[in-house]
Amino acid sequence: MALSLDTIVSLAKRRGFIFQSSEIYGGLNGCWDYGPLGVELLRNIKESWWREMTYRDDIEGLDASILMHPRVWEASGHVQSFSDPMIDNKTSKVRHRADHLIEGEIEKLRKKGRTDRADELQAKLDAAGDPAALFQLILDNEIKDPVSGTSDWTEVRQFNLMFKTHIGPLEETASVVYLRPETAQGIFVNFNNVLQSSRQKIPFGIGQIGKSFRNEINTKNFLFRTREFEQMEMQFFVKPGEDEKWYEYWREQRWNWFRDLGMTMEKLRMKPHAKLAHYAKAAVDIEYEFPFGWGELEGIHNRSDFDLSRHTEYSGKKLEYYEEATKERFVPYVIETAVGASRSTMAFLTDAYREEEVNGETRTVLRFHPKLAPYKLAVLPLINRDGMPEFATKLYHDVQRKFKTFYDTSGAVGRRYRRQDEAGTPFCTTIDGQTLEDGTVTVRDRDSMEQIRIPADGIMGYIQEKIGG
Ligand code: GLY
Repeated sequence: MALSLDTIVSLAKRRGFIFQSSEIYGGLNGCWDYGPLGVELLRNIKESWWREMTYRDDIEGLDASILMHPRVWEASGHVQSFSDPMIDNKTSKVRHRADHLIEGEIEKLRKKGRTDRADELQAKLDAAGDPAALFQLILDNEIKDPVSGTSDWTEVRQFNLMFKTHIGPLEETASVVYLRPETAQGIFVNFNNVLQSSRQKIPFGIGQIGKSFRNEINTKNFLFRTREFEQMEMQFFVKPGEDEKWYEYWREQRWNWFRDLGMTMEKLRMKPHAKLAHYAKAAVDIEYEFPFGWGELEGIHNRSDFDLSRHTEYSGKKLEYYEEATKERFVPYVIETAVGASRSTMAFLTDAYREEEVNGETRTVLRFHPKLAPYKLAVLPLINRDGMPEFATKLYHDVQRKFKTFYDTSGAVGRRYRRQDEAGTPFCTTIDGQTLEDGTVTVRDRDSMEQIRIPADGIMGYIQEKIGG
């Protein structure tokens, strides 16, 4: 049976991965909290990205502030262009993204087997350049509000997605600032600072992980479209003319990152953008097939010299590079890799989920790559006496110094294994009668459910080897 989003959402809550924000007050739409297991998964994803992307000699790290000078967002084009087309239904008062409404219609046509009509509408949607064109498509196709069932529409208007706030004690007199809608601009405005302090030579990159905010009209699909989310972005600065080569290079590197963390490759695809964003010369998305359909995890863009040129224009400060060897001065091109940490968490969680028949019973298991699993090990004394708990707690504390470890004495060992399967813990070790005689323990593998016996002092090395590096 196909996996439903509800199954993931309910497991995520039950096991402490993800909670609705401010749940006791009825929740806040588009915002989610990471519980004890979720925060470990998220941190492991971010750690894996950070190591892969910044522990190399041509990339530096950065952590820029969320609030930036408002001119940044004029230069970046966000004040002018970072908006979604919205339409309101006058009867239901529900606001929709006009393009999503049309996509819904295309989906309906496909379900009815009317592929030609669906393709035709898709082509018209791709070609629709402004709100008026989208409005016309809604009218021409007699698209109705899914809530009220009427066509009682307002016109389509652009709605800026940036959250505005104020700096200073009084709103009326204070200056407007925005919560950043992407981390990328923090990197661009620090180009000179990083270049000068790190003495990097082109090509080189700057990577950053951080929160971004977008006032999405419709939040939906759990962590997929949220108003607050975390990004992992890297801007790679290259010599113009070498941009296409590096674009290809980063497409491959980023694809391999998902592969190496155990993602099901049939559920990933590369999708070139039908329409390019205002800054992009070329763009492709790495998409994952979620229970609700394909959705973007990562964008890889050739941003040309758009950003550095615009910031030079708006700030009056030159953001360029002098190449000693050729005595050339130029504005570097940028290849951007921008992946959602929150979306990746949802993708890895969904991808890991399995229901398996074992001895006539269903076991739920999260088959995370050991690198991503919240707990690496569970320590389970077989019985809670005869010196087993003492041995087990010492082992637990020893391993916990390096790897997040869980200690569980409650219930039959089979039940304890199942609880760890559902948390995605790759290894469980039991301390039994034989342990007290010869110092060995069993190690049970989550996926094969097979057990081996190894010396207790070999556990750390065993986990390290399985995690890889
Ligand atoms: N910086 C590109 C993005 O936020 O998707």
